[in-house]
Amino acid sequence: MIAVSFPLTTWRDLVYLVAIVGFVVALKGLSSPRGARRGNLVGAASAAVAVAMTFSDSTVYHSATNVTLALIAMAIGAALAVPAARLVKMTAMPQMVAAFNGVGGGAAALVSVVEWLHWHSTGTHPATYQIAEVLLGVIIGSVSFSGSTIAFAKLQEIMATRPITYPAQQAINAAAGIALLALTLAAIVTGTVGYVYAILALAFGLGVALVLPIGGADVPVLISLLNSFTGLAVAASGFTLRNNLLIVAGTLVGASGIILTRLMSQAMGRSLTNILFSAFGAVVTANTSLEGAGGRSVRSSTPVDVGVLLAYSSKVVIVPGYGLAVAQAQHVVKELADSLASRGVKVAYAIHPVAGRMPGHMNVLLAEADVSYDDLEEMDEANAEMATTDVALVVGANDTVNPAAVDSPGSPIYGMPIIHTDRAAHIVFLKRSMRPGFAGIDNELLFNDKTVMLFGDAKETLQKLVAAIADL
Ligand code: TAP
Repeated sequence: MIAVSFPLTTWRDLVYLVAIVGFVVALKGLSSPRGARRGNLVGAASAAVAVAMTFSDSTVYHSATNVTLALIAMAIGAALAVPAARLVKMTAMPQMVAAFNGVGGGAAALVSVVEWLHWHSTGTHPATYQIAEVLLGVIIGSVSFSGSTIAFAKLQEIMATRPITYPAQQAINAAAGIALLALTLAAIVTGTVGYVYAILALAFGLGVALVLPIGGADVPVLISLLNSFTGLAVAASGFTLRNNLLIVAGTLVGASGIILTRLMSQAMGRSLTNILFSAFGAVVTANTSLEGAGGRSVRSSTPVDVGVLLAYSSKVVIVPGYGLAVAQAQHVVKELADSLASRGVKVAYAIHPVAGRMPGHMNVLLAEADVSYDDLEEMDEANAEMATTDVALVVGANDTVNPAAVDSPGSPIYGMPIIHTDRAAHIVFLKRSMRPGFAGIDNELLFNDKTVMLFGDAKETLQKLVAAIADL
C-alpha cells in the first residue's frame, strides 16, 4: 500500500477550496427567500472553517504575539457584533450593513498599509505589480471605510440625511480623483514611504466627498456599491498576502455587490450615475394634511366598510411598502390575511423588488411574521393577476404603485416598473396622510375613482380591520 502524504499547505488549499465552494453555495441560497437562511449558515460555516485553517499558516503562527493579538481582535469583534446583530431593529439593518462593510474595507486598507511598511522596514524591493496591488487595497479599502461611515451616519440620522451639496462639488471630487491617481503613480515609480499616508488620507477624504451628495434613501444602493468595493479591496489584499481564499472570496463579494447594485438601480428605474450624482431627494414635499396638492380631496373610508369589502371579496392582494416596516405591522397583516383566508378569500402578497429601503426588505419582514413563501408573488406574477383581483390593499407603499412611473415622462420615477394596483377592481390605501413616499412626488392613484383611503398608522388600522372582520 502506498501512503500518500500531502504537505500542510496542500491541505490548507484543499480546505480553502471547500470553503470557496461553500461561499458559492451560500450565494446561491441567498438568491431566494426560501434558501436564504440555509445560505447564510453555509456561508458563515465556510468562513469559520477558513479562518480556523488560516491559523495553520506558518506566517501566522510563527509569532505568538501576532496570534494573541489576532485572537483578542476576534474576541472584541465578536463581542460587539453578536449582540449588535441580535438586537438590531429590522428598519436599522441598512446602517448595520454599512457599519460591517466599513470595517471590512478599513481592515483591507490596513492590511495593505502594513504590508507596504513591512517592505520598507525589511528593505524588500517588491515588483511594480505588487506595489500596485497594495495601493489598490489602500485606496479601495479606505474609500469604502470612510464612505460607509458617512452612509452609517446618514442612515442613523447622526448627520443630515438629505443630500449635502456645495458649489463645484463634482469638479472638486474629480480633481481629488486625479490627485489620487497622480500620487499613486508617484508611489509606484518612487516607492517612497510617505506617499502611502497621503494616498490613505486622500482616499479617505474622497470616500466622504462621494457619499455626501447622496440622499439618505439612496444610501442602500450606495452601500451595495461600497460592499462591492470592499470585496475588491479584500481581493487586492489576497494578492498581497498570496492567499487564494481571500482573492476568490473578495471577488465573489465584489461581483455580487455590483450585480445587486445594478438590480436595485433597474428596479428603481434609475441609472447608477443618476443615483450617485443627481442629489436625488433633496426636496421632499411635506404634505402632512389629509388633502392632496391643490386642495383636491380623496375618498376616505372606515375600517368597518373596508372590512366588509375585504371579507366578501374572492381575491385580495396585499401590497406592502416602507410604511409596513415603519409601523412594524407585519404580524397584524398576517393576522388579517389569515382571517380572510379562513373565510375563503384568496390572499396573496405582491412584492416589489425595491419596496421598503433595502433589498428583500418586505421578504424579511413577512418571513419574521411566518408568512408562507408560497403566498408571496413577485411583481410580474402579481401584475399578471391584478385584473382578476377584487381588492388591492396597499399597506404603506406609495412610489412602487405610482402610475406616474408609467405615464409621466417628466417624473423622477418615470421608467420604474410598478405593481399595477390600478388594474384591480378596488384599491385601498393604508397610510397616515397625503405625504408622498421616498421620491417626494404626488400619487394620482390616491385620487382614482376606485381608490379609498384608510388614514392612520398601518398597524392600528390593520388591527381595526381584523376586529371589524371578526365582528361580521
Ligand atoms: P414609499 O414610496 O417610500 O412610501 C412609503 C409610504 O408609507 C408613505 O407614503 C408613507 O405615507 C407611508 N407610511 C410611513 N409610515 C407609515 C405608517 N406608520 N403607517 C402607515 N403608512 C406609513 O415606499 P415604497 O412604495 O415601499 O417604495 C420604496 C421607495 O424607496 C421607492 O421609491 C424606492 O425606489 C426607494 N428605495 C428603495 C430601496 C430598496 S433596496 N428597497 C433602496 C433605496 C430607495 P404617510 O407618511 O402618509 O404615512
